[in-house]
Amino acid sequence: MSKYEKFSSERGRKDPLPGLVVRPAVPADAEAIASIIAERNGTAAEKAAEKVRREFETQGPGAAKLFVAVSEGGIAGFCRCGRRDTAAQPFKFPAPAGWYCLGLVVRGAFRGRGVARALYSFLGRWLRETAGTDRLYSFCSAENAVSLKMHAALGFEAVSEGPGFLDVPFDCGRGVLFRLELPGPGFDLNLTRA
Ligand SMILES: CC(C)(COP(=O)(O)OP(=O)(O)OC[C@H]1O[C@@H](n2cnc3c(N)ncnc32)[C@H](O)[C@@H]1OP(=O)(O)O)[C@@H](O)C(=O)NCCC(=O)NCCS
Repeated sequence: MSKYEKFSSERGRKDPLPGLVVRPAVPADAEAIASIIAERNGTAAEKAAEKVRREFETQGPGAAKLFVAVSEGGIAGFCRCGRRDTAAQPFKFPAPAGWYCLGLVVRGAFRGRGVARALYSFLGRWLRETAGTDRLYSFCSAENAVSLKMHAALGFEAVSEGPGFLDVPFDCGRGVLFRLELPGPGFDLNLTRA
């Protein structure tokens, strides 16, 4: 499987995935998350699982928070977010301080069916209500046409371009930093399909 999903301007819409729910991940999800990472990267699932298990064990302000999207067919995708205090801690590439989406992958067989939308929707509400923030950052490679389109479709605003953000360089040498303003209390974060 290639690293990025193939862009299709005329792909049409598939039906939403039945029974799709998003929830914070628990340690028992580590193997399923790792198998999605392994499928995407073409790497060994066991190595990925060790890393994911370590993420569950790590506590503290910069610790990763993981979320999973679950359908009738099992875990269809996951995302990872974390707070990065770029004012207090040096990073290789300049980036604003705040909460970042640090990985979102949907299993190949379930793509194009609203899983990323559902994950971002849940994440936005969680950040607002639990983490008390009103802004989410995300970035992707300039080569990842589907991710660029997805960020625009979900209401993210492109705020800068660079060879990398935080400690993440882009293989092609260029990427885009996005920002999503999370609506205040009394508003619904509506990331459902128009
Ligand atoms: C990018 C990715 C996460 C999207 O997940 P998904 O569940 O398929 O996305 P959704 O079905 O929720 O679609 C959200 C929007 O993305 C865009 N999109 C998704 N797949 C697309 C495709 N193949 N071609 C063009 N646009 C696409 C559309 O704008 C879509 O909104 P729409 O359905 O209203 O048209 C998925 O393709 C993936 O896991 N890719 C590999 C990992 C990756 O690139 N992650 C992002 C790193 S920042």
